[in-house]
Amino acid sequence: MNYLTDKLSEIVGQAFEDAGFEREAGKVRFSDRPDLCEFQCNGAMALAKREKKNPFDIAETVAAALKGNEVFSKAEAVRPGFLNFNVGDAFLVDCLKEMDRTEKCGADQDIKHEKIMVDYGGPNVAKPLHIGHLRAAIIGESLKRMGRFLGHEVIGDIHLGDWGLQMGLIIAELKERGKEFPDSISELEEIYPFASEKSKKDEAFREKAMEETFKLQHGEKQETDIWHRIMELSVADLKKNYEKLNVEFDLWKGESDADPYIADMVKRLKDEGYAYESEGALVVDVTDEKDSKEIPPCMILKSDGAALYTTTDLATLVQREQDYAPDRIIYVVDKRQSLHFEQVFRTAKKTGIVPESTILEHLGFGTMNGKDGKPFKTREGGVMRLEILISDVQEEMYKKMKSNENINLSDEEIRETAGIIAIAAIKYGDLSNQASKDYVFDTDKFTSFEGNTGPYIMYTMVRIKSILRKYAEKYEGSDIESFELKTPESPEEKALMLKLSAFGTMMRSAFSELAPHRVCAYIYELANEFNRFYHVTKVITEEDREKREGWIALLSFTLKVFSCSVEVLGIKEAERM
Ligand code: ARG
Repeated sequence: MNYLTDKLSEIVGQAFEDAGFEREAGKVRFSDRPDLCEFQCNGAMALAKREKKNPFDIAETVAAALKGNEVFSKAEAVRPGFLNFNVGDAFLVDCLKEMDRTEKCGADQDIKHEKIMVDYGGPNVAKPLHIGHLRAAIIGESLKRMGRFLGHEVIGDIHLGDWGLQMGLIIAELKERGKEFPDSISELEEIYPFASEKSKKDEAFREKAMEETFKLQHGEKQETDIWHRIMELSVADLKKNYEKLNVEFDLWKGESDADPYIADMVKRLKDEGYAYESEGALVVDVTDEKDSKEIPPCMILKSDGAALYTTTDLATLVQREQDYAPDRIIYVVDKRQSLHFEQVFRTAKKTGIVPESTILEHLGFGTMNGKDGKPFKTREGGVMRLEILISDVQEEMYKKMKSNENINLSDEEIRETAGIIAIAAIKYGDLSNQASKDYVFDTDKFTSFEGNTGPYIMYTMVRIKSILRKYAEKYEGSDIESFELKTPESPEEKALMLKLSAFGTMMRSAFSELAPHRVCAYIYELANEFNRFYHVTKVITEEDREKREGWIALLSFTLKVFSCSVEVLGIKEAERM
């Protein structure tokens, strides 16, 4: 099965070929000017330039050849040389029916399947999850789901920060307090910032923490046992928090897992002449003559022989290559780390840690700011814990729903639904912005039921669900599943159908651009088209059975496309509100 635009490109490409031109010129896409036409092809423009011909003449020849083709209700050449198309109703409906027959609405067809790892989350053990971790979790989860939806094999790895000085700090402080093990996550959360502050003022303590880190990294029993306990407490707490966000990892690996690979890797880099000593440290040159700004050498070991963040990331690549040999790895990490990843990727390719063909990408995301335009903080100016942010938004959503007099739900149901919609509000608020840009976290705006928000999408989906429920009650015993789509009656209905037909194309390009915001933009438009259609159509009270059933089929299919879309965004659906 092909996407609708592929089918049109096929036909128009053939017409170009028949007229003696290249097939590729016939590429058709959704129109930028829906007021003029539904689809467009700009191929004659580029072609004319190359062949030194008049573009309008080429377009006219092609348009003439398409006359009488039932796929199009309009195929016309317009100056200076564009082709504008509208599609016939029957063709459009057939395409939608074909989409509806497949589980993924046809989006996963014709895609070369890859093995992809998504490295996201990246929290540091023993520190509470704070809003700085929100974006990695939300965006990474969505990319993982988009890839899977399109049929790729996708492995999500959290890549815990579980091996650095912060572990030594905690161990040193535990020992000073005369404690064998930590008892709880709250104890750890108190100890870490305390020890971190202390190390800044107290040189001896800092030395001690470094020693503990060294012992841990060299496998000494006591420190390793404490580390295990810290990990147990932390991971349980992290799982609980990520679950609230509907975020799940396939692998709970961390920097520590890369440790066994470091020694051999460093030895090889030295032996093969890639790594050399510079000011005591071991480095690999990664400059490229095409660079416009200088990329400093990648440091592999510090002068005291200690491993660094780059070292664990490189060793992790050794491990990933050995265990999974992925075609592609996507790192969803704060964009301020872009130099780090540039160095790591270049070193990995240059030294053959990964093959040249492996795609390594850093999707660097921007900062989540408060309304003042500065990084989001608590009212007191501290770092906001993720848990608190989530419960604040849930409370806000609950209040909003509670104040609606028309609501027909018990208090308990309101709580539950408000919980789901609040998460949708947070995730959609984040995902609807281009990942690389900073954005403002605005609870009022995000929780609004109007505009480009998660609650508006949820509301529209619940609206469709409720119409389908009402229909099933009124026409008891009718088999909604068997209803067939009918040709559109109104411009609003056709507009909705056209939007639905774009789903596969949209999903494919959203994933190739690593752009969940494209999915959000799509469902926002879909919601608008649906609401416009519903505004002019009396579905349930329609007397003509055939029309009524056609519309119910359209509603079901619209809901299916919505469900697929929110599923890839990692947003759970609400049933009633
Ligand atoms: N733990 C790191 C941090 O807090 C993020 C890890 C991202 N992933 C990676 N492979 N480096 O900055």
